Amino acid sequence: MMKKFLVILAGALLLAGVSGVTMAQTATLGVADCVKCHDVQPAQIDANGAKHKTEIDCQACHEGHRPKSAKNIPECSNCHSGKSHYQIKGCVSCHNPHQPLLVAITGQQKDVCLTCHAGPGKEMAASPSKHATFACNFCHADKHGMIPKCVDCHKPHSASMTQADCATCHKAHKPKELLYGASTASTMCAACHGNVMTQLTASKAKHSQLACVTCHANKHKTVPNCSDCHGLPHGSMHDKFPKCGSCHNIAHDLNNWPKEEKAKKK
Ligand code: HEC
Ligand code: HEC
Ligand code: HEC
Ligand code: HEC
Ligand code: HEC
Ligand code: HEC
Ligand code: HEC
Ligand code: HEC
Ligand code: HEC
Ligand code: HEC
Ligand code: HEC
Ligand code: HEC
Repeated sequence: MMKKFLVILAGALLLAGVSGVTMAQTATLGVADCVKCHDVQPAQIDANGAKHKTEIDCQACHEGHRPKSAKNIPECSNCHSGKSHYQIKGCVSCHNPHQPLLVAITGQQKDVCLTCHAGPGKEMAASPSKHATFACNFCHADKHGMIPKCVDCHKPHSASMTQADCATCHKAHKPKELLYGASTASTMCAACHGNVMTQLTASKAKHSQLACVTCHANKHKTVPNCSDCHGLPHGSMHDKFPKCGSCHNIAHDLNNWPKEEKAKKK
């Protein structure tokens, strides 16, 4: 019993002695100390440190301190390597290491965006337009992930057209590739082809019931042949009169000949 007590006492004295010596001779700087003199960085890490808060601490990056260590600022490449994104220069121009995901995008950026978003670059190369000549952040400005509206920079083609309609015909990264779907409303085409719309809706023939895109399908400036839909309905007569239009006039105004033409025919 007594023997056991003495062993414990000796152990306690030894511990006290050792820690006393450490305190006196090699006082170490701990992570908890940084905030005593630096308030900005600990506050940033606390609020927006992301994985620099959860997976590492101040001293994983800042080994040592002045004046003992002259330089305690790390290189990003100490810990980040292996992706093309980590090859570019000037990491801290976009990333504050104490809030690494609050990315500040300044200057004119393209190459750096393409390290992660190859898609838009390929689209722009395949379908050149003035958009393809701009920096990515000409449109995706200020904050990473921001998506602009077309109408921030362009007027719609008509008063009834809104931002939601632009994507019917245009893609941002290839705006000149004019493709549209089968449900595209004729009023949208009428924004530029008002005369055709007026003529077609005034016609009494059944074509007036059809949408523009039923005939001019998928791609802007597609013009169909009558026989794509009707074949050759009049048998051998077509050999003699190969042009449908010579009897039916134009698709937008079937069989409705202007008065002077009618007079000529009589
Ligand atoms: C007792 C106060 C004090 C404590 C505690 C302290 N620092 Fe400092 N730190 C300073 C001073 C003073 C400077 C020099 C500022 C200057 O040169 O403008 C400095 C500079 C720095 C620098 C800049 C170094 C450079 O080369 O530009 C870093 C990084 C740094 N401290 C990190 C830390 C970290 C990490 C901790 C906690 C582990 C810490 N400090 C704890 C006072 C302190
Ligand atoms: C991911 C690594 C990393 C972590 C974690 C980190 N820092 Fe830094 N710190 C840096 C880098 C890199 C710089 C240099 C920034 C620059 O050049 O703009 C820096 C700069 C500093 C500076 C100098 C200030 C200045 O504006 O030049 C201080 C002080 C500092 N850090 C303190 C801290 C403290 C305190 C912590 C923990 C709360 C911390 N850092 C966590 C990487 C880190
Ligand atoms: C001491 C090692 C270390 C250093 C130095 C370091 N990082 Fe990191 N960083 C990490 C770790 C660990 C992670 C989390 C795992 C990962 O994403 O690779 C991380 C994650 C990140 C993230 C993503 C954060 C998240 O929550 O998803 C960014 C951005 C980042 N680092 C940028 C930088 C930049 C810029 C520098 C240089 C200024 C830098 N890091 C320096 C270790 C470091
Ligand atoms: C032109 C700005 C810019 C520069 C310069 C830049 N980055 Fe980034 N970085 C970003 C953007 C934007 C993200 C995406 C952030 C997000 O996902 O919200 C990112 C994400 C990251 C991530 C997290 C995602 C991942 O792929 O792991 C790390 C780590 C990172 N950068 C490290 C670096 C390093 C290291 C450098 C320098 C070699 C660097 N960055 C230079 C803009 C930049
Ligand atoms: C390190 C990789 C990385 C870099 C560099 C990067 N991004 Fe991203 N970006 C991402 C990730 C991850 C997301 C979120 C996931 C997603 O939607 O694809 C994202 C999302 C986006 C979005 C929103 C997508 C959506 O559908 O909402 C846009 C726009 C964007 N980035 C543009 C850019 C631009 C412009 C740059 C250059 C200044 C850039 N990114 C640099 C990784 C990156
Ligand atoms: C940040 C401003 C901005 C945004 C956002 C924007 N554009 Fe543009 N766009 C421009 C500029 C500037 C031009 C070149 C104008 C010129 O030179 O006449 C242009 C040109 C175009 C062109 C003609 C391309 C060519 O090569 O002739 C089309 C089509 C176009 N934009 C459609 C759109 C559509 C659709 C959207 C949305 C998906 C959009 N834009 C978003 C600024 C913008
Ligand atoms: C003229 C303005 C403009 C330019 C320049 C531009 N974008 Fe976009 N971007 C947009 C718009 C608007 C959208 C929304 C989708 C749409 O309308 O087609 C978008 C969507 C995106 C998206 C999310 C959807 C997708 O297509 O993946 C990413 C990522 C993106 N852009 C990255 C980039 C990159 C990287 C660059 C540079 C190579 C770039 N953008 C250049 C306007 C632009
Ligand atoms: C029904 C299809 C359609 C819709 C919807 C549409 N556009 Fe267009 N847009 C076109 C066509 C076709 C052209 C090419 C005209 C030409 O060849 O001159 C064009 C050309 C453009 C141009 C370049 C020429 C110019 O007029 O300056 C811009 C910019 C443009 N569109 C922006 C928009 C915006 C913004 C929206 C949405 C509000 C939009 N477009 C909606 C079909 C459409
Ligand atoms: C932004 C204005 C604009 C919009 C919207 C627009 N177009 Fe056009 N379209 C034009 C221009 C400009 C031309 C060329 C006219 C010329 O060459 O005389 C044209 C030409 C055409 C041509 C004739 C091609 C040829 O070879 O003669 C057809 C067919 C056509 N458009 C159909 C449509 C259809 C269908 C829509 C709706 C999905 C539409 N357009 C929307 C501006 C537009
Ligand atoms: C995309 C298919 C399509 C194309 C191209 C097309 N039509 Fe038609 N046409 C129709 C449909 C659908 C009707 C209505 C049939 C019905 O309701 O019985 C029709 C009806 C007609 C009629 C009967 C009109 C009526 O009011 O009874 C004539 C005549 C006609 N088309 C001639 C033509 C001529 C000539 C052309 C070429 C200039 C042409 N069509 C191009 C689909 C088309
Ligand atoms: C029944 C099929 C059909 C419909 C519906 C139709 N078109 Fe056409 N369109 C044609 C054909 C076929 C031509 C070639 C000329 C001809 O033979 O009539 C043409 C020619 C054109 C042209 C070029 C010549 C011109 O008249 O300027 C434009 C532009 C045009 N269409 C736009 C439109 C628009 C806009 C609409 C809807 C308001 C529309 N079309 C509806 C079949 C049609
Ligand atoms: C020589 C004059 C002439 C030519 C050329 C002609 N048509 Fe006709 N078409 C007619 C007449 C007349 C009718 C009315 C007959 C009736 O009501 O039975 C008619 C009726 C039609 C009808 C509607 C009746 C039905 O069959 O359902 C269609 C569709 C039609 N034509 C398509 C065409 C097409 C497509 C061409 C060219 C390939 C063409 N026509 C060439 C004179 C012509």
